[in-house]
Amino acid sequence: MKILITGNMGYIGPCVVQRLYASYPEATLVGLDMGYFANCLTGTEILPECRVDVQYFSDVRHLPKDLLRDINAIVHLAAISNDPMGNTFEEVTLDINYHATIELAKKAKEAGVKTFVYASSCSMYGFAEGGPRTEKSPLNPLTAYAKSKALAEKDLEKIADKRFVVTSLRFSTACGMSERLRLDLVLNDFVACAVTSKKITILSDGTPWRPLINIKDMAQAIDWAIKRGTANGGEFLALNIGSNEWNYQVKDLAEAVAKVIPDVNISINKDAQPDKRSYKVSFDLFKKLAPDYQPKVDLITTIKELKDGLEAMEFKDGDFRNSKFMRLKVLSQLRNKDLLTENLEWANKSSGA
Ligand SMILES: NC(=O)c1ccc[n+]([C@@H]2O[C@H](COP(=O)([O-])OP(=O)(O)OC[C@H]3O[C@@H](n4cnc5c(N)ncnc54)[C@H](O)[C@@H]3O)[C@@H](O)[C@H]2O)c1
Repeated sequence: MKILITGNMGYIGPCVVQRLYASYPEATLVGLDMGYFANCLTGTEILPECRVDVQYFSDVRHLPKDLLRDINAIVHLAAISNDPMGNTFEEVTLDINYHATIELAKKAKEAGVKTFVYASSCSMYGFAEGGPRTEKSPLNPLTAYAKSKALAEKDLEKIADKRFVVTSLRFSTACGMSERLRLDLVLNDFVACAVTSKKITILSDGTPWRPLINIKDMAQAIDWAIKRGTANGGEFLALNIGSNEWNYQVKDLAEAVAKVIPDVNISINKDAQPDKRSYKVSFDLFKKLAPDYQPKVDLITTIKELKDGLEAMEFKDGDFRNSKFMRLKVLSQLRNKDLLTENLEWANKSSGA
């Protein structure tokens, strides 16, 4: 068994690699990543990439020759992975998240890869009123990021067949401690606010709904998707990944953090424009198809894990919303220093030396 994991050097990737290493100890794990956030390590003694057998520092837009030889399964995480980056680098987001994904899938099918697991997102539901969104609900992608995910998913469905099984995992918003922790995610941000300044500033009016999932449970779902056969969901399956109990309003998340971390003050921006991204999601189908792979790490455990992780790092930066813990900041800084071109490709490799 040989598994390719693209985007393995991001926030979720290290956790996915650990899970696959435990589940498939005999497998050859191959990583491929541009390395945008390679040096954003947090609280780890080793370079997480030591856990893969082969690491490519490459761009999914220019696939290395022979990359796909003998690969059985692909976990495709590589992407411009949130709304702020997608809004700033709109065209590149479409190129990487949509066009390169479809090219990769086509080449993989040609090369005889059997299984393709795609990291999609519940954010494709956009603003959704009238009950939890199911996989049959219409999509309403409101941002460049969400649109790129929706377009990729639609074309992946056309490529899937009984020789090339595709699972598009529509993940809830991720949270939890990682060897490359990001703080541009709602729960992670609230815990970091509480730890550094005892004050959580909610940028919205607190009412938007968000389903959440711990990254360990995302990795578990990916493990399931690699194993599932066509009998369990068909040749193409788009599936909401999370749990019904983890649909929260943003203000509930802040209150949960304040329960775990004492003396935290919560301020809500009452004058904020209503957040257009608000959606409740139904995870019934996931429960039906994968009863043994349901999310296990609950909200309070995740908050404690983040608190402990940040304290172990002696994290004190109250201004972290302007720091390298925000992915947009990292990319913008690399651009400002001309280390990345406007297409977000590495510039002349001697620059920055
Ligand atoms: N974090 C979330 O809340 C969430 C939720 C739903 C879905 N997802 C999806 O899961 C995947 C992983 O998310 P993450 O939070 O780890 O993101 P991340 O931004 O931390 O990691 C993405 C990785 O992809 C790499 N990458 C980007 N463009 C590339 C390219 N052209 N070639 C090669 N590598 C490239 C980056 O260097 C980075 O290491 C993404 O596809 C994301 O859209 C994330």
